[in-house]
Amino acid sequence: MSRFYLTTAIDYVNSRPHLGTAYEKIAADVIARYHRLSGVPTQFVMGNDEHSQNVYQRATERGLDPLAFCDEMEQVFREVWDKLDVSFDDFIRTTEDRHRAAVTALVQRIAEAGDLYEGEYEGWYCVSCEAFKQDKDLVEGNCPVHQTRPEWIKEKNYFFRLSKYRDRLLAHYAANPGFLVPEVRRNEMLRLLERGLDDISVSRTGQSWGIPLPFDPSSVVYVWFDALINYIAAVGYGTDEARFNEWWPADVHVVGKDITRFHAVVWPAMLMSAGLALPKRIFGHGWVHWQGQKMSKSLGTSVDPLEAADRLGPDPLRLYLVKEIAFGQDGDFTWERFEERYNADLANNLGNLVSRVAVMATKYRAGRVAPVPGAVSHLTERAADVVRRYQAAMDEYQLHVGMAAAFELVDATNEFITRSEPWVLAKDPTRAAELDQALFDMAEALRIAAILLWPAIPASASEILRRVGETRPADALRVAHDTAWSTGERTISTGPPLWPRIDTSGPAPAKDAAEKGTEHTMTSETEPPGQDDTSPPPATADRAPTTAEAVRPEAVPVPVPVAEEPRISFDDFMKLTLKVAKVVAAEAIPKSKKLLKVTVDLGTEQRTVVAGIARAYTPEDLVGRTVVVVANLNKAKLMGVESNGMILAATDPDQNPVLLTLDAPEKAPPGSRVR
Ligand code: MSP
Repeated sequence: MSRFYLTTAIDYVNSRPHLGTAYEKIAADVIARYHRLSGVPTQFVMGNDEHSQNVYQRATERGLDPLAFCDEMEQVFREVWDKLDVSFDDFIRTTEDRHRAAVTALVQRIAEAGDLYEGEYEGWYCVSCEAFKQDKDLVEGNCPVHQTRPEWIKEKNYFFRLSKYRDRLLAHYAANPGFLVPEVRRNEMLRLLERGLDDISVSRTGQSWGIPLPFDPSSVVYVWFDALINYIAAVGYGTDEARFNEWWPADVHVVGKDITRFHAVVWPAMLMSAGLALPKRIFGHGWVHWQGQKMSKSLGTSVDPLEAADRLGPDPLRLYLVKEIAFGQDGDFTWERFEERYNADLANNLGNLVSRVAVMATKYRAGRVAPVPGAVSHLTERAADVVRRYQAAMDEYQLHVGMAAAFELVDATNEFITRSEPWVLAKDPTRAAELDQALFDMAEALRIAAILLWPAIPASASEILRRVGETRPADALRVAHDTAWSTGERTISTGPPLWPRIDTSGPAPAKDAAEKGTEHTMTSETEPPGQDDTSPPPATADRAPTTAEAVRPEAVPVPVPVAEEPRISFDDFMKLTLKVAKVVAAEAIPKSKKLLKVTVDLGTEQRTVVAGIARAYTPEDLVGRTVVVVANLNKAKLMGVESNGMILAATDPDQNPVLLTLDAPEKAPPGSRVR
């Protein structure tokens, strides 16, 4: 790969970024950083989509000129991206001259190809999607994404001959299986193409906010036709031909699954019409959900990314989003889970490893570690295998798999420390060489893990690299060379804990579980058989040693590897009241695609439970079924309906629910306890 051009969707600026829109930018940033780490010249472009009606309306409400409002919002967006360490190379706004020049040139070229004609559009328009909608696109008359009623509009428009490109698009899909990924989105688009395409309206009349059509300035270019062109505008189309030839076509457009049709059907047809190359790949990622719904400002289900970053730090947030959500699928964000993963992955696992390596190197070898000539290194093969699998995953945008691979090396290093017991070796002068090698191996494995994690946690990984004696800046490192096992002597530094463990005590069961799990692990690790009182004293992960303490022998931390999910005690499990229940009634919840209102019989009472299972089950499917319910969960209001319990379901690989049922329901009547 000689160069890599990557884009995200450009955001509407009528409101601040939320965690869902931020997720896309963070994921794209991880991809961009990985390519830079691979030594490929990379161009990562993001930007703002400003010609939307909602933007105009918001500016008017604020009494501002729309452009002044967009200028203000640019600062808001940049501040968020800066805080989240999103390292775009270019940020394009659709009100910029370079964008206007590209739109004018491309629309002109499409018109010259004979692909625009005048007509009249009469139909639905969802302002939040900025999209024309057909009846079949609506659910009970509402836009399914925004759950609002679209406007009925009738106006003279210019139409683009999208239908003409259906066969060429199908041929392109057939010849390029990787054009649209993941597979589920490709299948959706293939079905759409097979059904046939209608021409689409690409101008709006009676509006001043937008880019005028070059051949009819009384109309402006439809906002989507305008916005898509940013991808070529940003690399010089219509303004800098040499630059355009250098960077186009894009290697990947990273966009949400709700807008894949614009990117995988409309955009390629526009490019075909203009005789330009198509992007090599479109990645349609899933949605971040909040309480069972797409996270969205207009649905009132959004989390502020700055608040999330302030809570535990930008890197923990980035890691959570790319490691916990399978890239391509939907995933949940909850504060409880975020805190739980922070404690498990960062405080107890990686953070603890960083402090153990530094403290032991300092205590036993004054910070200088070097391999023993001729000695066998213990983690070399494991590291090489992890790097191989990491690269294979990251090359295919399987970010979560790549991150999990990197954490395997962290786990393996923690396990190695536990096995090799450096504190025991340190007591026996005849084993000094073994200790030298062990100290070197753990530092080297940690160095490699930090390089692999750098795309996701850039600031923290840079600090880890510094502490393990890597003298080059992180962005000068290359995955192909610098993750090979190196053998030079190095100086290890101590430092304050990177991720102090947070106290998650509170009502949420997940928090409780994380805490209990850690206690359990520490007990077993601090009392290894045969460990005498000169062994390193326990260090709690929430209080990793400070620099001053770290150089004192008594502050050497005892290994606290947490290679697996934190465990809970049986008593904790028994705090859950799981009961058999029979569904006696079920109905859809207006405006919700996911939720059903379900009435269950628990033997002694009937309860209303709101269940996020509507994608997989109709109300009729449910009545009469035996299910398992968490009966002692706090009540919660979802879409205005009070839920008094939770129905248990597994989640299939496509994130669809699969209900838990009983082997022999006749033997366990409603109300029977499940354990
Ligand atoms: N302006 C258009 C995109 C034009 S691209 C030529 C738009 N803007 S948006 O602000 O509504 O969304 C920006 C991106 O964020 C889209 O890719 C969208 O799918 C994504 N997301 C919005 N909500 C999201 C989640 N809850 N989760 C994940 N991504 C989400 O669409």
